Amino acid sequence: MEYNKIRITADQAINIAIENFNIQGTAKPLQGEIDFNFKIDATDGKAYILKISRPDENADYLDFQQKLLQYIAKSGSDLTVPSVIPDKNGSLISETKDDSGLIRKVRLLSWIAGRVWSGVNPQLDDLRYSLGEHCGKLTYALQGFDHPEAHRKFVWDIAEGDWTTEYLDLFSNGDKEVISCFQDQFHLAQPGYDNLRQAVVHNDANDNNVIVSPDLMAPKVVCAIDFGDSVYTQIINDLAVVCAYAIMHHNDPLQAALPIVRGYNNSFPLLESELEHLYMAIAMRLVISVTKSAINKKKEPDNTYLLISEKPAWELLRKWKDINADFAHYSFREACGFTAHPGEEKFKVWSQRQTFSLERLFPNIGFNEVYTLDLSVSSNWLGHEKDFNDLDYFQYILKKLQGQYPSKILAGGYLEPRPIYTTSSYDKIGNNGRESRSIHLGVDFWLPANTAVHALFDGEVVTAVNDEGDKEYGGLVILKHQGEGFEYYTLYGHLSVASATRNKVGTYLKAGDVIGILGNWPENGNWAPHLHFQIMLSMLQYKIDFPGVAYYSQIAVWKSLCPDPNLLFKTKGLVGRKTSSNSEIIDYRKQHLGKSLSLQYKVPIKMVRGAGQYLMDQYGRKYLDTVNNVAHVGHEHPAVVKAGQEQMALINTNSRYLHENINELAKELLETLPPELSVLHFVNSGSEANELAIRMIKAATGQRDIIASEVGYHGNTNMCIDISSYKFDGKGGKGAPEHTHIFPLPDAFRGKYQGENTGEHYAEEVKVQIEKIHTKGRGVGAFIIEPIISCGGQIELPEGFLAKAYQYVREAGGLCISDEVQVGCGRMGSTFWGFQMHGVVPDIVTMGKPLGNGHPLAAVACTRDVAEKFANGMEYFNTFGGNPVSCAIGAEVLRVVKREKLQAHALEVGTYLKKELMALALDFPIIGDVRGQGLFLGIELVNGKKEPLANKTDYLANRMKDHGILMSTDGPDHNVLKIKPPMVFSQENAEELVFYLGKILAEDFMTL
Ligand SMILES: Cc1ncc(COP(=O)(O)O)c(C=O)c1O
Repeated sequence: MEYNKIRITADQAINIAIENFNIQGTAKPLQGEIDFNFKIDATDGKAYILKISRPDENADYLDFQQKLLQYIAKSGSDLTVPSVIPDKNGSLISETKDDSGLIRKVRLLSWIAGRVWSGVNPQLDDLRYSLGEHCGKLTYALQGFDHPEAHRKFVWDIAEGDWTTEYLDLFSNGDKEVISCFQDQFHLAQPGYDNLRQAVVHNDANDNNVIVSPDLMAPKVVCAIDFGDSVYTQIINDLAVVCAYAIMHHNDPLQAALPIVRGYNNSFPLLESELEHLYMAIAMRLVISVTKSAINKKKEPDNTYLLISEKPAWELLRKWKDINADFAHYSFREACGFTAHPGEEKFKVWSQRQTFSLERLFPNIGFNEVYTLDLSVSSNWLGHEKDFNDLDYFQYILKKLQGQYPSKILAGGYLEPRPIYTTSSYDKIGNNGRESRSIHLGVDFWLPANTAVHALFDGEVVTAVNDEGDKEYGGLVILKHQGEGFEYYTLYGHLSVASATRNKVGTYLKAGDVIGILGNWPENGNWAPHLHFQIMLSMLQYKIDFPGVAYYSQIAVWKSLCPDPNLLFKTKGLVGRKTSSNSEIIDYRKQHLGKSLSLQYKVPIKMVRGAGQYLMDQYGRKYLDTVNNVAHVGHEHPAVVKAGQEQMALINTNSRYLHENINELAKELLETLPPELSVLHFVNSGSEANELAIRMIKAATGQRDIIASEVGYHGNTNMCIDISSYKFDGKGGKGAPEHTHIFPLPDAFRGKYQGENTGEHYAEEVKVQIEKIHTKGRGVGAFIIEPIISCGGQIELPEGFLAKAYQYVREAGGLCISDEVQVGCGRMGSTFWGFQMHGVVPDIVTMGKPLGNGHPLAAVACTRDVAEKFANGMEYFNTFGGNPVSCAIGAEVLRVVKREKLQAHALEVGTYLKKELMALALDFPIIGDVRGQGLFLGIELVNGKKEPLANKTDYLANRMKDHGILMSTDGPDHNVLKIKPPMVFSQENAEELVFYLGKILAEDFMTL
């Protein structure tokens, strides 16, 4: 039928609404595959959807949809569904005559307000759960409903999916293989699949048929619309359709499907038999979709839209094929509250009746007890990454420990999150950034090479290979065993290659037979000798390298699939270590630590290990740290750790004894400073440094009036708070004390003076404060400022400002302090200290954070004149300041900066990152300003009127954390994201940061 002849215009729709339904309003055409749909905005404020069918539409089919909606409405469920509006005559299906005189069926439904699923960004787990929950409720509400039209043959019904086999030739070879593989699975599954529960279901909750609430922070599904595809079919098909659409565009579609399954099951409990078919049903819905596209493409080869629309289905189909069907099945089971592996319970019951002494596994050892070896991310014994990756060293400490416990087997590790596997080769990019395979699935027994390993039970050899490669299994044997009505497998990794491969696949070993002997490195995969022993209830189609470690996000499934080996041994030493949960730690903090100590992020993280630019939580999740300028040369830099450990082992005293270290640190520091700043004092924190600086000012000038910047922060002590507007002008503050004089934040973006050439204006503001002090009949003590004002929101001082301000202060007899606690030690890139960017030399420089790379160490550098005046006879004693351990650490930090050319690196990476952030700002106008130097940058979020957007900044930081990237917010209006990572932050890290910033900035909550 010619489209133009049957088309309905908006004007016609308005008339139909009036004539058939007595509704006055405007009409807006909507998309519709078959019907002509209009949104009617009635004059009384109500809204409707008017659906005009094609002339030849089957009235029964329309009746089916109307009855179905009415059935749900009367079902007593709390579901929102469109209401059916009867026409003037009370008919649910009305009629009109079109211009050609043809009768057209007309339906009117109430309009459901909200956002269409496809336009919602992000679609997070909670929203997908709510989608599943809603669709499950629909299925529940439809129980008992039937209609002859529900039993029509329908190409989109997964149960009918066999029709696609006829069209296999439309696909090229690779694609054909993917499709036919699923078609074959579908075929094979038929007998069980046919017997599954059937009912009338929605069957089309695709991303244009789901309405989501307007809430941008915690959106929920409001309604599934369009019941045109409803059909009587296997109930599991309905869930399969929901999943097939909602998991497109995800790196890990299985993980994305689980909240949906969980939600559906919560409102409509699924059966185990149904979950067996879900993986295949999802695949078949996609097969139908791509086959339909291929048919349409053949019909309309020039229609580029068809190409675009099939792309995500194809992407998902290929990813889906790479997912192990059994693993998906177990994951679905776990999501629905069943044991992930169907045989887990049987294995547990059977294993309760078994007890194997460890001597059965290692008869030559002669002992049975276990000393628990803690190799978890937070293990103190494991120590530094550099150490445990040094095999000689690792072997040495193992031997020593064994010497301490000669009659025990060093063993452990079941479900232990380990740092050993957190190198990037164990990483993948999941749906929320990087994930590391860190959870150990077996038990490791650390015994000498050549120790014989014997079979615990009779078993068939199913794998006997050399699983070659660094950190692989080396010699590997897997045995298959028959339990009582179930099968299970045991895995023996890191054997000698010869002994492992002596076994032949298909042969049988008897309990007590030798399986192999422990290998040595490198042939055992490059490990200190040990046996990796693991139980599996399924092989998941792996042949040679069944995973020995898993992603934390999948731990519930893996622990069912790979039960605890200690179920067999029942040995105390193999019981996993219990650590405090995060909520326990939080509760304790709340009770016993000061309330004013805050925690970062809405959901706080427990960090247990650092490595370079990364921090790791207790599950081994690696976070990219863009915040921590304290870990200046990288978290737990090996040279710095070593310097501290070595000196700690010798002596740590105060500076009243002679020691080279204090002089060594002084020499390293003086090398970086201008000759005028030639005297040093060492202290323990930035606050202490500024506290001492102010004491020096008082001694040197006899004055106590200090000029400081608005929103400046200089430390937590009494005096420091008194000069920190960030604190006394902030929450809980009481304003500036009598002797503190604050000039406006020299912010060229949103400050008192904006744009170019503001340096002079802000310097004049400093002058205003000088005059104020004079008016009070007093003199200026000092002017203190950071070269980039950190807490103020990474505010760069305007050009010329500092030189002029210093001039005015000095003319008034005051001294100048540069607070380099945040910015110093090469971070600026172009200069080592921040003041050097401005061509000035302060009288006092305070330094802290980066100097100790995390160790409490700070310093004050000053001119000889200031130092002399300070030394007025009163001794300056500092118990810890300048101790040999701190000084060894500080000197090594400065040497690492030199050795690893980190200042030049900061310039290079910082310049690159700033350029990329500026490019991002062009795409996202919410980024009002990008500023900073080297690796000390900030981005400020504002609306079109330059108003600060604190909520969005906070959201951005929290969402970045969800993606494994740590960021912090600051500035007087909390709308600046600060970027000040450890200096080893690489260009690749910068690229990752910008990528995820772009991703989150595109989310609905971030739009202006
Ligand atoms: C600029 C500035 N000065 C001084 C301090 C105080 O240093 P600390 O916390 O080591 O006492 C800080 C701390 O954040 C700071 O940012």
